[in-house]
Amino acid sequence: MSQSAFPANFIWGAATAAYQIEGAWNEDGKGPSIWDFYCRKEGAVYEGHSGDVACDHYHRWPDDIGLMKEIGLQAYRFSLSWPRIIPEGRGAVNARGLDFYDRLVDGLLAAGIQPWTTLYHWDLPQELFLRGGWMNPDIPLYFAEYAEVVVRKLGDRVKHWMTLNEPQCFIGFGLGTGVHAPGLRMDWPDILQAGHHALLAHGRAVQVLRTLGGAGTRIGWAPCGVTSFPATESLADIAAAKQYMFAQTQKTGMNNTWWGDPVVFGRYPEDGIALYGAAVPKYTAEEMKIISTPIDFYGFNTYNGTPVRAGADGRPEVVKQAPGFPINVYHWPVNFDVLRWAARFLHERYGKPLAVTENGLAGLDWVMADGAVHDPQRIDYLQRHIAGLGRAVAEGVPVEAYFEWSLMDNFEWNEGYRQRFGLIHVDYATQKRTLKDSAYWYRDFIRAQSSGGKL
Ligand code: GCO
Repeated sequence: MSQSAFPANFIWGAATAAYQIEGAWNEDGKGPSIWDFYCRKEGAVYEGHSGDVACDHYHRWPDDIGLMKEIGLQAYRFSLSWPRIIPEGRGAVNARGLDFYDRLVDGLLAAGIQPWTTLYHWDLPQELFLRGGWMNPDIPLYFAEYAEVVVRKLGDRVKHWMTLNEPQCFIGFGLGTGVHAPGLRMDWPDILQAGHHALLAHGRAVQVLRTLGGAGTRIGWAPCGVTSFPATESLADIAAAKQYMFAQTQKTGMNNTWWGDPVVFGRYPEDGIALYGAAVPKYTAEEMKIISTPIDFYGFNTYNGTPVRAGADGRPEVVKQAPGFPINVYHWPVNFDVLRWAARFLHERYGKPLAVTENGLAGLDWVMADGAVHDPQRIDYLQRHIAGLGRAVAEGVPVEAYFEWSLMDNFEWNEGYRQRFGLIHVDYATQKRTLKDSAYWYRDFIRAQSSGGKL
């Protein structure tokens, strides 16, 4: 990139989530979460790993802020642990848990880093699970109470909020395929009912944040931006890719519209309703009004996409990628232009300002003989994805921020510590942090952006 496409006030950050980095799973009055239990289930997580200690960020946060500063992050996206703050999910507040985030926010601001805070990144209080979890019709109210506790404490300083991270995953994987906590395999009527409660929880939390948040509060959420992109730049392929991205033709939690349409338009998508038939939850108009309480920005977590072209009959057709296409260690495909199309299509449909809330690469990283972590694939991945995003911005799509996933290597859910997504390498035996080459690249990139965008 010679001249930056990004506006001067564009925010460059990195992201994490509480259970993936904090550790201290039972310290200072924290209650257990569904992940604390799930990890103890035989065979649930790769090699029996757990987030008990993770990156020990709960104790090492001042040093971690120092590393963020070294990279030059302008913002840090992190999540709050609901059971650390309200151990049983409702009722008594754990002041020590809340104080941890209070200090973290102060520390970030003192370092000149904006806090972008997610309320829910999957660590549901176990006690609420025992009361039915997302199946409990009262959970939206509990979530609103939790949001209130948090915003009253942090809302004078936290200006950017995200309600839910990827309902697609915590409902689809947690309750549908069972590969994430709590590991249930329910039927569609129950999955969709739980999803409906999650959407209601989102809406109620937006209302609380809007009412109690300080001046300048901006509220969004962070679903997975499941992306299709055109196989060629012909108008027909572009239209087909867009149609495919917003179609719901298969019963899977992994889609955009079942989640995004209620939040933005206040209704479930027609094709999804036809697909699920009698499994669609019953709801009132009032509930849909709550769910669609206006948000300020639409976040999206995007790592890869599906190439699509217009078939002979004009209908979208998935294109098989050529043998040997690039992949990450997870074996996810790598599609360099994916952010460009995700941003453009999401904006065309939902009309909201956007934020890339996650994007990054699981790599084959270790500390090399020279003491450094050379990760050229990640540098190339970031550079090219950001360039794609820049094209969308140059084409007029309003994107406000980009968060690399992740600040540091961490507990990758059912994959345990096998997947390394960090800009910072973590040696889990010693908790030693090493900035990878990509962290230095990102540092230089951010610096160049703030000095006029020359790189
Ligand atoms: C998700 C979560 C993150 C993951 C990351 C890499 O998207 O699953 O938001 O917690 O760690 O996406 O898989």
